[in-house]
Amino acid sequence: MLLDQLIAQKPLTISEFKELIEQKDPRFQKELQDYAEHITEQIFHKGVYIRALLEISNICENNCYYCGIRKDNQTVKRYKLRPETILSTAHFAYQKGFRTLVMQGGESKAYSAKEMEKIILDLKHQHPDMAITLSLGEFSEETYRLWKNAGADRYLLRHESYNPEHYAKIHPKELSFEHRIDCLNTLKALSYQTGAGFMVGSPFQTTEHLAHDLKFIQEFKPAMIGLGPFIPAPNTPFQHYKAGSTDLTLRLLSLLRIINPYALIPATTALSALSSHGRLEALRVGANVVMPNVSPKEARESYQLYVKKNETTDSLDQLEKELSTIGYHVDYTIGDYQNKI
Ligand code: 5AD
Repeated sequence: MLLDQLIAQKPLTISEFKELIEQKDPRFQKELQDYAEHITEQIFHKGVYIRALLEISNICENNCYYCGIRKDNQTVKRYKLRPETILSTAHFAYQKGFRTLVMQGGESKAYSAKEMEKIILDLKHQHPDMAITLSLGEFSEETYRLWKNAGADRYLLRHESYNPEHYAKIHPKELSFEHRIDCLNTLKALSYQTGAGFMVGSPFQTTEHLAHDLKFIQEFKPAMIGLGPFIPAPNTPFQHYKAGSTDLTLRLLSLLRIINPYALIPATTALSALSSHGRLEALRVGANVVMPNVSPKEARESYQLYVKKNETTDSLDQLEKELSTIGYHVDYTIGDYQNKI
């Protein structure tokens, strides 16, 4: 019943979402995943978009309790890639066939707004047909506009939790839920293809919180959705908490696909870290993007939000091979969000 409502794109209430998340009947699970797979196939034809992930800096001014590169983690060797390195890595990725560069970094002023503007302008000059995705955290409207005007196309900013009390339990008091959501609204208003998302199984998270996350996604309709299990990171306040469930993550992926059929949803590294088949399973039940890491080796070693295992360091040939085992293939086009609803 509820699944039919979801399929018909009817808005659900929090308690209905809760019921869907808690539904344990294996027949329901199967129906859910089959339907998610079906619509992914209808829209993306078994093609998987690729994004080159470049971790440009791990310098961070924030102290999120879950994150391995939080400011107070003194064991992290901090780095910032030089603009020349960013440009040459982008070129390398372009030659391999990537048409999206994702620049992700700790939240800081390691690069000034002007310096980042110049990097974006240079990247766009180098490859006008390569999309630029930023994942750099919370900034002012003015800065977001500057980067948009320079040519940035997309922005990933996970909302982390759509419940203010839960948000406050996993972040220090300097970080506010309201400001996070303001940033997301600003990004969308500036016409970025905007990405939201959250961790599954972060400490203190309840099904009710997850229901709020799903409802938010249904209303906000992000172009991209980042979803992965929480993985305890050493030297963080949450190092002894248990990891999120891969099963629940996969189930939520299917629900998200049905709620937001055209969304770009990556099979995230966090999922692969917990299960070696995680990536393929995710692609089977609703994900349609993978983000191979193209960061220089030294950077990659110092960019540990959590302990990275089974990271997608493979070549695109290897990826093609892996995808072919389930009848999928790499889609080498730019992979913009098609807003059809
Ligand atoms: N486990 C899983 N995901 C994490 N992130 C940060 N730390 C962890 C962790 N320990 C996620 C956050 C952030 C994104 C870049 O990575 O959701 O937004």
